[in-house]
Amino acid sequence: MHQEDDKYYLTYNQIHKTIKNLAGQIIESGFNPDVIVAIGTGGFIPARIIRTFIDRPILTVGLQYYNKANRPQEIPRKVQWIDEVEKKLPGKKVLLVDEVDDTRVTLQYCLRELLRHRPGEMAVAVLHNKRKKKKGQIPPEISRYFVGEELEDRWICYPWDASDIDEQQNRATHIH
Ligand code: G4P
Ligand code: MG
Repeated sequence: MHQEDDKYYLTYNQIHKTIKNLAGQIIESGFNPDVIVAIGTGGFIPARIIRTFIDRPILTVGLQYYNKANRPQEIPRKVQWIDEVEKKLPGKKVLLVDEVDDTRVTLQYCLRELLRHRPGEMAVAVLHNKRKKKKGQIPPEISRYFVGEELEDRWICYPWDASDIDEQQNRATHIH
């Protein structure tokens, strides 16, 4: 990872390694999920990489909090919310995966919605947590919270958002 113009730049390789470590923490804790729920779109690729280490089915929900101009909206918007996901939750051990814990507004909203379907146990895993004052809260029913890497409150540039992946790679590895 490299920091430039107050932003963090990351490569897929760096993310893969952080997630291997994250999955290791989950396995070591003894939490053995029945199902992984990925919050889209940022959580899709991290959830898939977690599955390399914790081989469980992945369900997805789509939430959007920032609009196209990268401004937060009033409440997170359900872009895609499959009834099938809700049917599969009661009594299950669920691992909810997202890429970043930023304000926690989306996480809180999503966790509350999912908790209505009475999972047996629900844990959260995020690739990155930003050290900052949070606007949302992790509900008390959430038994465990796993973080791949703690970061300062700066914008993180993920490789899946890069229009030029070579430039992303160069920035992230500081070769330019
Ligand atoms: P939180 O609950 O997980 O803390 O999230 P919060 O509501 O604060 O905001 C969530 C939205 O903000 C997500 O995008 C997330 O990807 C985006 N976000 C927050 N910080 C960063 C960052 O440093 N870098 C990037 N690239 N994104 C960030 P979204 O628009 O809701 O959906 P999507 O982009 O996942 O599709
Ligand atoms: Mg986003």
